[in-house]
Amino acid sequence: MAVENLAPVEKKEQIEESFVYLDDEIEKSHSKLVVKDVNGWFGSKQALKSININIKPNSVTAFIGPSGCGKTTLLRCLNRMHEMTTGAKITGEVLLDGLNIYDKAINPVIIKRRIGMVFQKPNPFPTMSIQDNVAAGLKLNGVRDRNLIQDIVEDSLKGAALWNEVKDELDKPGVSLSGGQQQRLCIARALAMQPEVLLMDEPTSALDPLASSKIEELISNLRERVTIIIVTHNMQQAARVSDFTAFMYLGELIEYGATNQIFKNPKKDLTERYISGKFG
Ligand SMILES: Nc1ncnc2c1ncn2[C@@H]1O[C@H](COP(=O)(O)OP(=O)(O)O)[C@@H](O)[C@H]1O
Ligand SMILES: [Mg+2]
Repeated sequence: MAVENLAPVEKKEQIEESFVYLDDEIEKSHSKLVVKDVNGWFGSKQALKSININIKPNSVTAFIGPSGCGKTTLLRCLNRMHEMTTGAKITGEVLLDGLNIYDKAINPVIIKRRIGMVFQKPNPFPTMSIQDNVAAGLKLNGVRDRNLIQDIVEDSLKGAALWNEVKDELDKPGVSLSGGQQQRLCIARALAMQPEVLLMDEPTSALDPLASSKIEELISNLRERVTIIIVTHNMQQAARVSDFTAFMYLGELIEYGATNQIFKNPKKDLTERYISGKFG
């Protein structure tokens, strides 16, 4: 955060205090996303309770927890999708590189471009070819340059580890691909918008183990270009793909830390009981 925002300091103690403050701010400035006291509702039902979490750039963060604990809702609060549900409400702040995505002056469309989303079930546009599926967002955003579109389509399909399988049949319908390929096509479609953050909601839950492992592999390569948050109820998957893990329960964030620590040495009893399969 800008140093000029700090109030002038007069006394030594205050200077020292302000250093602590600065360190804290520097720590925050290394976060791609800062979630501050986020509460989320569906009508009168509170689904998220005072969530605070800092997401590190170019990392993979897993949200885990039993069904209904609020993983999807939290994910959808991170790119302004939650508010699209009728009756849904959110309070708190989500800072993307320091910018509050809920600021009144912010256009949610821009946020969805910077923070992309991949859903549980692969959902390619049914009438479009592979190529057009990937290019759809670009065209919608007024990109006309055919060579540029071509380059981005290729680059996105490579990023989604699908290029080699489809490069000779880009005109085939997207829905003619296998389930795993369709999910990678959806990842390519999200990447084409060149997002900074990619949210993935149980992206492999509809896929077989081989197709899932391909997605896991590409996730770990993708962290070089995007910050990734993945919701999974597969704990082995969280342990394999993520750098950081957040464990949620009944709308609360119970524990958050390095994935190794969460799985090997959880601080909270509830986390320990969940990861050792005592409830689910
Ligand atoms: N569209 C909705 N309308 C009403 N309640 C919802 C809706 N979506 C989710 N919920 C409720 O919010 C809570 C959190 O759900 P969700 O975020 O989907 O959990 P998870 O992804 O961890 O399974 C649950 O109690 C769920 O029933
Ligand atoms: Mg969910």
